[in-house]
Amino acid sequence: MTDKTTAAVVLAAGLGTRMKSARPKVLHEVAGRPMVCHVLDALRTAAVDRTVVVIGPEMGAVAAAVAPAATALQAERLGTAHAVLAARDALTAFGGDILVLFGDTPLLTAETIAAMRRRIEGPDRPAVVVLGFQPRDPAAYGRVILAADGSLAAIVEYKDATEAERRVPLCNSGVMALRGDVAWALLDAVGNANAKGEYYLTDVVAIARRRGLGSALVEVSDEGEVMGVNARAELAVAEAIMQDRLRSRAMANGATLIDPASVHLSWDTTIGRDVTIGPHVFFGRGVRIGDDVDIRAYCHIEGATVEPGAIVGPFARLRPGARIGRDVHIGNFVEIKEALVETGAKVNHLTYVGDARVGAGANVGAGTITCNYDGFAKHRTDIGAGAFIGSNAALVAPVTIGDGAVVGAGSVITGDVPADALVITRAPVKEVAGWAAKNRARKGAGAAKRKPAATAPRSDTSAPAGASGRKKAG
Ligand code: UD1
Ligand code: MG
Repeated sequence: MTDKTTAAVVLAAGLGTRMKSARPKVLHEVAGRPMVCHVLDALRTAAVDRTVVVIGPEMGAVAAAVAPAATALQAERLGTAHAVLAARDALTAFGGDILVLFGDTPLLTAETIAAMRRRIEGPDRPAVVVLGFQPRDPAAYGRVILAADGSLAAIVEYKDATEAERRVPLCNSGVMALRGDVAWALLDAVGNANAKGEYYLTDVVAIARRRGLGSALVEVSDEGEVMGVNARAELAVAEAIMQDRLRSRAMANGATLIDPASVHLSWDTTIGRDVTIGPHVFFGRGVRIGDDVDIRAYCHIEGATVEPGAIVGPFARLRPGARIGRDVHIGNFVEIKEALVETGAKVNHLTYVGDARVGAGANVGAGTITCNYDGFAKHRTDIGAGAFIGSNAALVAPVTIGDGAVVGAGSVITGDVPADALVITRAPVKEVAGWAAKNRARKGAGAAKRKPAATAPRSDTSAPAGASGRKKAG
């Protein structure tokens, strides 16, 4: 659904100096996605598809992150009204309403954007709609000043406000809607005779009023939704709020989170029904979990898909390209990367499977390693259906283990194994009967000779007497 009546201008030209970062502020991530992309996503959900992101010089990385959204360059940072005007050329042919948002408010919801649109499209068609809120600590936010009749009179920036105005609890969130037919004229009328010497977007409210045009207020009750991120500590607060939202969504969709607060999700994590997630599980980007999956405690999962009925963990790591099939068991201290583990296979203990396929029903024993890297390139391992890989096997890729084949424990496999064969590279067992006892006796006597004075000489009587000379080769 594309809507041609509203375009959004997202301001992101600020340097974000308080982040103390080489990265532009709006590219810092919340739930694994740049803040500005959360804003764009909320706009898309609210069916605002025409968006211009205003960026500063040398912000090519922001342009790349927001593509296919258009960008406009604000060469000099002269204030929020000046920043919106930087988007004018990109919107010349567009006559609809303009929604202004900030790129550093990642928690703004599509519902609030929709409420702003409903208000400006209302029968009285206000020239400006302001999104206000009443924060616990109004701090240095701009104050929304109402006239005696309750209509919107002005927004006064904190630095320019009188003591009386600073006592006003209603603040400006920064989100604003401007009616299409007057938007650019109002912005053109903004001057910079104020405490900061900047062109304040907020001045459009008073300018509209002087021109006999009405403004309206939409109030948002959850102040978290409009919080701006300016420093790392605020980024962490935004992350915590976003994580709460994502966890609530997962639970609402039918997942059990045993200890929700310890589960970290990515913005795009999808979790099916009747999934159980244990404590301390981390989901990175690109994870899809099917129905009836059990993710046990302390797993790290990124770029992986898990099909219904599988069990993963505790203490498993699924890296990008891990595809875990139906009813598969991935156990503790197992790492899977770029590998397909087919239906019902088991990889239960202390194993690395990388660049591989594990066929349906195969059993990969404890300590198995796919040796996928030769120091220069990666190679593939293919394990057939129903194969049995004994513990502590090293499968040196490229290598294929046929369907139903058995690899003996401790083997190093460097060549292909036919289906149903047994392959074993274990060294023969050598047994020397009584050697240990004789060795103890010999070493014990030596120790007694070296330290005669300090301690009592060691007794030999614990050595088993009369050990037979049985010798066996295996
Ligand atoms: C702004 C509002 C204030 C409101 C507050 C809410 C104005 C004048 N003031 O103040 O009323 O309470 O947000 O957080 O609008 N930007 C540019 N180019 C510029 C200046 C800013 O792109 O030349 C961008 C910034 O990157 C940022 C946003 O606009 O994303 C807001 O700018 P900022 O300097 O943070 O405004 P505040 O002083 O916080
Ligand atoms: Mg700010």
